[in-house]
Amino acid sequence: MPPARIRATGSYVPRKRLTNLDLEKMVDTSDEWITTRTGIRERRIAGPAEACSDLALKASKRALKAGGVKAADLDLIIVATVTPDTFVPSAACVLQSKLGASRAAAFDVNAACSGFIYALSVADSFIRSGKCLNVLVVGSEVLSRVTNWQDRSTCVLFGDGAGAALLGPASDETFQSRIISVNIYADGNMGDLLMIPAGGSRRPASEDTLKNRLHCLQMSGNETFKIAVKTLESLVRNTLGAAGLTPSDISLFVPHQANLRIIRATAERLGIPIDKVAVNIDRLGNTSAASIPIALDEAVRSGRVKSGDYVLLEAFGGGLTWASALLRW
Ligand code: ACO
Repeated sequence: MPPARIRATGSYVPRKRLTNLDLEKMVDTSDEWITTRTGIRERRIAGPAEACSDLALKASKRALKAGGVKAADLDLIIVATVTPDTFVPSAACVLQSKLGASRAAAFDVNAACSGFIYALSVADSFIRSGKCLNVLVVGSEVLSRVTNWQDRSTCVLFGDGAGAALLGPASDETFQSRIISVNIYADGNMGDLLMIPAGGSRRPASEDTLKNRLHCLQMSGNETFKIAVKTLESLVRNTLGAAGLTPSDISLFVPHQANLRIIRATAERLGIPIDKVAVNIDRLGNTSAASIPIALDEAVRSGRVKSGDYVLLEAFGGGLTWASALLRW
């Protein structure tokens, strides 16, 4: 069976911008603190009528158009998200209906910020096994709906958006353009560092959970930061080492966009120059599972990725989870 490859990408971000100056009026913070600590200048916020599947739909249509594939020809749709429209049905099923992808199986993956690469690994396996030809992998988040807008330590970080990748089997004779490896990891012992405490079966919605905003994301930012920087360097070195490559072979590095300081520290430790790093956190904030496919789509559409380039994706997020993918374009 041929390996899988990414045939096309697409993305969508909502129109409404929320700047650091806007946030200064909402909580005790400053543009200076947010910019120096995170690199974020503004983020996008979904409109009142926009849910996860609406953002996913726009990104997906762009990926399908770029790939020249009809929705009716999709075999599988996977949506990576922690903010689905509803728990049931899944965002992927809602998206399947909106796209009219009547042949496609559909399900969601929840691995927080690592979700897109987790979903990519599932898609890669389905294609390599010969079970699917056309797979749509989407990262879509409306984090503004699970943000505690009174908590300055988290509300300045997150934004909304969606990115999509259309996958299929490698088609050229040498299989040059392909997914070389996808690696996914987890450590549930540290799950409480980043969580939405209520709304699930442990603590169903109640007056108390609403009053205490327990349906919103909580994060021990500083501790997560230190683990992320340490984990990501070895993750990237192991991913490249297994393929017989070094950081200097990478043409484009697409990290999850959680904090510009994490991105810079990881790139510096690896010796990857910053001009080879895809960065959109300044404009979009942390869009969780959507950050990597949006950044990848921006790079593809601006011509930053060329045939034969090695592209490296990496993420770290709630769960805890972390993941990497090495691609040849
Ligand atoms: N404005 C002003 N001051 C603030 C703000 C704010 N918005 N937020 C926190 N502070 C204060 C704190 O109260 C603290 O004050 P104190 O020293 O008087 O107690 C001080 O700033 C420092 O706080 P820290 O939390 O130590 O700040 P830090 O430098 O760690 O930055 C941040 C916080 C940006 C959250 C950082 O820790 C981070 O990016 N962490 C990693 C996030 C991550 O990778 N998450 C995983 C992916 S996300 C996902 O999966 C959904």
